[in-house]
Amino acid sequence: MGQEIKDGIYWVGVNDRRNDLFESYWPIPDGISYNSYLIKDEKTTLIDGAKGGFTEEFLGKVESLTEVEELDYVIVNHMEPDHTGVFPELRRINPDLTFVGTEKTRELLESFYGITQGIEVVESNDALDLGSHTLEFVETPFVHWPETMMTYLPEEEILFSGDGFGTYGALDGGLFDDQLDVEKYYDEAVRYLSNIVGAYSATLQGALAKLQELNTEIIAPTHGPIWRENPEEIVELYDKYSSGGAVPGITIVHGSMYGFTEKVTEQVARGARSTGLQDLKVLDASRWHPSYLLSAAWKRRGLIVGSPTYESRAFPPISNFLEVAEKKKLKERIAGIFGSYGWGGGSAREIEETAETLDWDLVSSPVEFNGQPSKDQLENGFELGRKVAEAIED
Ligand SMILES: Cc1cc2nc3c(=O)[nH]c(=O)nc-3n(C[C@H](O)[C@H](O)[C@H](O)COP(=O)(O)O)c2cc1C
Ligand SMILES: [Fe+2]
Ligand SMILES: [Fe+2]
Repeated sequence: MGQEIKDGIYWVGVNDRRNDLFESYWPIPDGISYNSYLIKDEKTTLIDGAKGGFTEEFLGKVESLTEVEELDYVIVNHMEPDHTGVFPELRRINPDLTFVGTEKTRELLESFYGITQGIEVVESNDALDLGSHTLEFVETPFVHWPETMMTYLPEEEILFSGDGFGTYGALDGGLFDDQLDVEKYYDEAVRYLSNIVGAYSATLQGALAKLQELNTEIIAPTHGPIWRENPEEIVELYDKYSSGGAVPGITIVHGSMYGFTEKVTEQVARGARSTGLQDLKVLDASRWHPSYLLSAAWKRRGLIVGSPTYESRAFPPISNFLEVAEKKKLKERIAGIFGSYGWGGGSAREIEETAETLDWDLVSSPVEFNGQPSKDQLENGFELGRKVAEAIED
């Protein structure tokens, strides 16, 4: 059943507790929701859709409120198939419905689904009159893709924000922040932001500035809770973590095949703690998916990476983390590097290359050691942790 969120406005989204990986990559042990909204007015309007594979469930919710044949508009805030997979079926049932989106959306509707007719292209400041509701569009390119926009409903002061202000986590029996365990979603919001939209932090900041001009009572994103009790909190979280506002903590991401590098990890961690540092997270890259490594590192200003050498480069789980960090633009950390090698070395060099690309500020040259760390090298590890901890406090 669709659920009413305001007079004449309904949530018709679905919970995905079936897929282990979002985008076939990011773990979602707690699921995710694909939020979609239906407005019943003179013009019956859907705002965003759902992922293919949930079509039957999605259509059931829409049909509990209106016939698909009665739909006039589908507002397309974002073309990613987690929100558009149901479009071909909607169009098949109702050939007269009109898709509303940006010029880029028009191009993607064709390349993804062969939809070329019945498209209304809109720009920022355009409005659509539904009868007693108006929809105003705000282009927000790259939150998450180039075609993205947000849709504002001035009569109710609701912002349909697409992926912006979204989180992982299926909706556990409620829709609104005041009905749910919000702490879980705030944690997942940082992971979602770092994994999905954080790479576009600069454009996210531009979008936040535009949205400051709107009075927003309710933020209704495409993933996670609808924020009505405390919408400022999620806006602040997004603002903070898209503007270099990482907290004064340290993430140590390490890997070790036989325990030599790991011996130094222990010393690095102790050195960091020796300054009184509270917020320290040690993550083994062999055990944690890059989603979690990235999220932990995104949150904290200090980042120390430890890796043995493996075929003249870093250990594959560490290389994988570095690659994801580069793709997602994990910029401007206060950083340190350490690692063991057997003969020629090379792991530290690979980490240094990423540090250079991402403007990480290294507190010292890498702590490298041949095989087992010596007593002096263990002390150098301790010093490395201490230096990073001191540098993040400045
Ligand atoms: C599959 C494999 C490949 C390796 N490749 C290199 C290499 O190319 N250059 C090097 O100096 N050491 C190489 N090593 C040696 C390790 O870097 C070295 O033994 C190191 O001390 C392991 O540290 P760990 O116990 O923290 O894993 C390799 C080791 C393994 C198991
Ligand atoms: Fe997306
Ligand atoms: Fe999405």
